[in-house]
Amino acid sequence: MGVVASAPAKVILFGEHFVVYGEPAVVLAIDRRAYAKAETRSDKRLHVRSANLNLSGYFENGYFKVEQGDAKEAVMKFEPVRFAVEKVFEKLGSRQGLDIEINSMVPVAAGLGSSAAVVVAVTSAVSALLDAKLSKEDVFRIAFQAEKIVHGTPSGIDPATSTFGGALIFQMDTGFKPLEVKMEIPLVIGDTGVGRSTRFQVEKVRDIKERYPQVIDPVMHAAREIVLRAIEALKKNDLETLGDLMNINHALLYAVGVSDESLEWLVNAARKAGALGSKLTGAGGGGCMIALARNEKLENVLESIQRAGGRPFIAKKTDDGVRIEQS
Ligand code: PMV
Repeated sequence: MGVVASAPAKVILFGEHFVVYGEPAVVLAIDRRAYAKAETRSDKRLHVRSANLNLSGYFENGYFKVEQGDAKEAVMKFEPVRFAVEKVFEKLGSRQGLDIEINSMVPVAAGLGSSAAVVVAVTSAVSALLDAKLSKEDVFRIAFQAEKIVHGTPSGIDPATSTFGGALIFQMDTGFKPLEVKMEIPLVIGDTGVGRSTRFQVEKVRDIKERYPQVIDPVMHAAREIVLRAIEALKKNDLETLGDLMNINHALLYAVGVSDESLEWLVNAARKAGALGSKLTGAGGGGCMIALARNEKLENVLESIQRAGGRPFIAKKTDDGVRIEQS
């Protein structure tokens, strides 16, 4: 009974922040997924439950009623879900009471795109349940619009990666291009556990760029070169070069002020344990870092990050974007 869909989380491998100013970025879908189950109800309610957030409640006649957890938090987390479901109803031209159950394996608010993965999975599950025949492009568009409710003006990196999977090159003016990567990319992801705001970090970079344009412009240029070299290295299965480029990319992010003490501890711990390279990923100021390591070093790097106070896990690239798990 019901339909279960899942969608992957993402990491930004190269180019965060500089992407805001038109430079390219490389993004990767990782094998940590959010799951959503959709079932019909006999009444008109849209009932949503998140197992991992311990939140539940329902929307009915324009109101939200909380059943578990904090009402404000629940409505904030569930609003994109409601929006996405409404869009599926619009496509169908009819409405239906639904039970949505969310189960996400993606750390929340850490820059791994957990909210996008959830909305993509929900949209796909509801579409399959009600036979709305949405294409992946439709799912992406709906999830992107829903993400705008949470993040204001996001780039769309998160819903694109969750929907399509694999590796993507993103640039503001040209959008997304799939990047064919045959090699494995063995990563350890370390969550600092320190909360951060993407908006605040983006403003920080804007401020430093405005105050020191002649200093920061060459940094932007270097960031572009890193991405171009990284694309070559990805095509040539050259892990060592990728590691070097990650280290340089991190130094540039440090230069524009978005690293912090919690990230520095984990980035250095990973390098000491034999990582080929490590850097913060996403907005910085807390959140997550990533380390690239040969398979035989992954456990060492993981333990080292843990000893340095982080919450690490091993992650691999996944080519599977959103998919139906059970119907
Ligand atoms: O940590 P995240 O996933 O919110 O990443 C933000 C990436 C930035 O480049 C800093 C901002 C953006 O919109 O691209």
